[in-house]
Amino acid sequence: MSSYTLIDGKQTAEALLVEIEKKIINLKKQNITPGLAVVLVGNDKASETYVRSKVAMSERLGIKSIHKELSVEISEDELLSEIESLNADDSVHGILVQLPLPAHIDTEKVLNAIDYQKDVDGFHTLNAGALSKGLESTIPCTPLGSIILLKRYLGDLSGKNAVVIGRSNIVGKPVGQLLLKNNCTVTYAHSRTKDLPAVCRQADIIIAAIGKPEFVGSDFVKEGAVIIDVGINAVQKEDSDGNSKRRLVGDVDFNAVCDKCSAITPVPGGVGPMTIACLMYNCLYCASMIHNVDFEMSDDLRA
Ligand code: GUN
Repeated sequence: MSSYTLIDGKQTAEALLVEIEKKIINLKKQNITPGLAVVLVGNDKASETYVRSKVAMSERLGIKSIHKELSVEISEDELLSEIESLNADDSVHGILVQLPLPAHIDTEKVLNAIDYQKDVDGFHTLNAGALSKGLESTIPCTPLGSIILLKRYLGDLSGKNAVVIGRSNIVGKPVGQLLLKNNCTVTYAHSRTKDLPAVCRQADIIIAAIGKPEFVGSDFVKEGAVIIDVGINAVQKEDSDGNSKRRLVGDVDFNAVCDKCSAITPVPGGVGPMTIACLMYNCLYCASMIHNVDFEMSDDLRA
């Protein structure tokens, strides 16, 4: 029977947060308090939960937190002027607009209205473009967290075959850019890919970011592959007593693949805690850049 390494996102996120907290203390000695504004439009339950944990983590680290809850009926112009005032506020170094936005609002317009220097999500076109050119930029949080985990557990990624399943702007595309920057041979696979399991069986590294519960089965996985499961899906599952319970599962069928792979992230406890830690990282990065302060993380906590 093969044994696999469980890639511990909680422990790595904690190491990252400890380092960030120290850097925040140093910034405060220079009279700089990082500020993060989180904007939530409407009352989507999942978004409310995510926003609550982002605000709580900012407060834990001593980041000034500004939390804006706006009506689902807000007009696009009103939302754009909220962003303008956050752009102009010197106590705010990071601005995050929780997605998805209501259908009557042009998401791209809103994301591009955020000052690119305060773009803690890395979703502004200037930052996405800079990342694709290999230039300095903020990096979307989930991809950043995924690559930090991979490098911490695998070391040098050079020459590895990486298959990214999913091509979203939030995860798939940027994580592929980061793998390329780390000298991987990158394949983007998606819903139209022919014979997806066969493509994935070529992979030394699989990044699963499809948003379909337990989609990646054992026929996708080469012996010894490393799997990063980005999915967080709430499903109803029966426990051993036959009771139906709400559970979180990833995009990977963990029990089906774990004996085939050499390392895998669990859900929960894998990429999830890294995403929120990387949001704090990006807030610190933005505050440091705005104030011209050096920003260097330890070697094992970099993308
Ligand atoms: N909704 C789901 N993931 C994200 C994210 O990483 N950032 C924002 N702003 N909204 C999201």
